[in-house]
Amino acid sequence: MKIPKHVAFILDGNGRWAQERGLSRSKGHEEGYKNLRSLSKYILSKGVEVFSVYAFSTENFGRSKQEVDALMNLILVGVKKYAQEFAKENIKIVFSGIRNYPLPKDVIDVMNEVEDQTKENSRGIFNICLNYDGQQEILDASNKIVEDVNNGILKLPVTKEIFNKYLYQELPPIDLLIRTSAENRLSGFMLWQASYAEFYFPKTYFPDFKEKDFDMALEEYNKRDRRFGKIKEN
Ligand code: IPE
Ligand code: IPE
Ligand code: MG
Repeated sequence: MKIPKHVAFILDGNGRWAQERGLSRSKGHEEGYKNLRSLSKYILSKGVEVFSVYAFSTENFGRSKQEVDALMNLILVGVKKYAQEFAKENIKIVFSGIRNYPLPKDVIDVMNEVEDQTKENSRGIFNICLNYDGQQEILDASNKIVEDVNNGILKLPVTKEIFNKYLYQELPPIDLLIRTSAENRLSGFMLWQASYAEFYFPKTYFPDFKEKDFDMALEEYNKRDRRFGKIKEN
């Protein structure tokens, strides 16, 4: 069985999961984050080295105040819990996204603390995309590059390897990208890193996506022929 080095996940369908049960959307997010806790451990225990998740997009700030507040609270409490558990598992937690307003200050503080607490961990990386937009990530990197070139810190030409170092986190390319809830789009998720990713779009809403569903995704991944533009030799 080939194990993808970098698995990325667009956690989608929490709201619909709840609405179909007559529950509040916030309850759906609670279930989603509960599921993420066990699923992330399972995925990293399978030998996946980097696990990225789309937890909150820049655009998600356009939702109702009630839903945004509930999500921010969940993230605040959730990330603290993850930090304790992942510290024991030797997993490094990092964040991608704009670490600034309108993210609440207490959330930004926790992000910085948790990154600092887990920075020496070496078994795997859990990358949480928070207030994230993939086009903005590419722009932010480009602007920093221009600044460094102007200051004489960096010489042209900029290669893909150098560009990758200017992104929010320096990560390997995504091998397997999963988006739950039957939506077949990226919604701005990790555009640079997803360049040659295998896509997998299960119909399941995220709170119902369990370990066995990930095993199915792995089976499917193993059936894919990743040619990278080349032709198989006989
Ligand atoms: C994903 O679930 C979680 C976030 C975007 C924060 P949604 O809240 O998008 O769920 P649906 O798509 O409305 O079902
Ligand atoms: C993308 O999901 C963002 C996250 C999963 C955090 P959305 O539900 O916000 O995206 P759209 O609106 O369906 O594109
Ligand atoms: Mg959605």
